[in-house]
Amino acid sequence: MSKQHNLEAKRIAGYAAAEQVQDGMVVGLGTGSTAQYAIQRVGERIQEERIAVTGIPTSYQSALRAREAGILVVDLPGVSSIDLTIDGADQIDARFNLIKGGGAAHTREKCVADASERILIVADATKVSECLTAPVPVEVVPYATVGVGRHIRALGGEPVIREAVRKDGPVITDNGNFVLDCAFGTINEPAALAARLNAIPGVLTCGLFTEYAEKITVLIGESEGCRTLT
Ligand code: 5RP
Repeated sequence: MSKQHNLEAKRIAGYAAAEQVQDGMVVGLGTGSTAQYAIQRVGERIQEERIAVTGIPTSYQSALRAREAGILVVDLPGVSSIDLTIDGADQIDARFNLIKGGGAAHTREKCVADASERILIVADATKVSECLTAPVPVEVVPYATVGVGRHIRALGGEPVIREAVRKDGPVITDNGNFVLDCAFGTINEPAALAARLNAIPGVLTCGLFTEYAEKITVLIGESEGCRTLT
């Protein structure tokens, strides 16, 4: 898939998800290029249809995009529940287990997913796989990075500190932490691996989302339109 086709597929999925937002909803706003399209379209619908939407961002990036789009932004502690969350994913398996965190936002994304009644995962077709095989992002308290790396190697993973693209040094998350991208090959038991990773001292959250399949619908953008996986 060319970069242009890939972006178009993301736009189609993001826009389709935005159409499911209804007047009065509290909506979780995911992070990443696909979720940004949904944020943009929700903003347009607010202008065009005068619907009222409260947006709960999952990152500073999505908060800024939402403000630019004219969406009322409220922080997660300001609401008791979220009607619908629209978010992207790095990989989606056949049972709707996810790998997230390509944008280093998976801790807040998981908090928002957890508070949500329904979750729309928006993606292009390259993200769908029978099994999870992508590296798992793990948000780590900087103080504990070396020790966490040792634990991850003992679990069979190969951790790499994520480096910032335009400066010399590690990526710093919105929570002030580092991210270790951890290759495990094919992940046969994602829930068990998630439990082990999350139990390591110094790990804030890993990017394996294994507990939300029942409330997830996946929207895959394609050149002919949007395909829904339930
Ligand atoms: C951010 C995420 C993103 O949702 C994920 O990386 C997908 O991004 P994109 O839509 O740009 O492909 O988990 O932490």
